[in-house]
Amino acid sequence: MNNSKIALVTGGSRGLGKNMALSLAQKGIDVILTYNSQKDDALAVVAEIEQAGRKAAALQLNTADVKSFDGFFEQLKTTLETTFGTNHFDFLINNAGIGIHASFAETTEEQFDQLTNIHLKGVFFLTQKALPLLNDGGRIVNVSSGLARFAIPGSSAYGALKGAIEVLTRYQAKELGARGIAVNVIAPGAIETDFGGGHVRDNTQLNQWVSSVTALGRAGLPDDIGGVVAFLCTDDAKWINGQRIEVSGGMNL
Ligand SMILES: NC(=O)c1ccc[n+]([C@@H]2O[C@H](COP(=O)([O-])OP(=O)(O)OC[C@H]3O[C@@H](n4cnc5c(N)ncnc54)[C@H](OP(=O)(O)O)[C@@H]3O)[C@@H](O)[C@H]2O)c1
Repeated sequence: MNNSKIALVTGGSRGLGKNMALSLAQKGIDVILTYNSQKDDALAVVAEIEQAGRKAAALQLNTADVKSFDGFFEQLKTTLETTFGTNHFDFLINNAGIGIHASFAETTEEQFDQLTNIHLKGVFFLTQKALPLLNDGGRIVNVSSGLARFAIPGSSAYGALKGAIEVLTRYQAKELGARGIAVNVIAPGAIETDFGGGHVRDNTQLNQWVSSVTALGRAGLPDDIGGVVAFLCTDDAKWINGQRIEVSGGMNL
């Protein structure tokens, strides 16, 4: 029997998802994380969580491929039973994502479809298919972006899809409330990860610009984000529901 709560974090191999997974573990929560291609990175996160005394596992998942989701949930069920001794989990963190930089005028249909599949369609149906395995009283945390509130050229498709996730969050909160499931969305500002080619971290000019438009005076780091997601999965956050929480150090206020 497993007495600990269990979180499923998509895209937990790197960047924000990794920090979310580690922060959840620090709060005593067991973690199943997914990766798309970076298996070794995912296994390193699993090892770090296990060293911290929690249970962890990593599964492959392409969130753009809705047709693969039934197979993924079969694997998830097996993992829950064999590694965690249960057949349900408590927290779904829809974090996996990519960035594509293109002006509105030049965004191709292929880029639009790829972003849509990962950032909206995948999140919609992964969450729908997760519902039978999610415990009543559980939590869902979606991941938007500051770019859904303010516009920076080059992110029209991405920003619009993140806006859609914020609307979806409110619908999910409304419809899942009957099961005691709260749904919130965090909106990180610009964070130094591999995202979008690692530009916020590696492009000094961009990094300085982000710092200049951020009230707290620097670009974000993964460690600025994970603790907020972990908090939303604690009892202290039990009455927060249907909310967009921007985690940007005060970007473009
Ligand atoms: N960094 C920022 O400035 C920023 C700001 C606002 C919002 N966000 C959002 O935060 C989330 C995480 O971003 P990040 O900065 O942590 O990015 P990252 O460092 O590039 O990491 C992306 C993660 O998502 C996974 N992933 C990518 N494509 C996938 C797919 N098709 N199916 C399943 N998993 C996939 C990756 O798996 P592999 O390791 O296997 O490739 C990796 O674990 C995204 O939703 C992003 O839109 C980021």
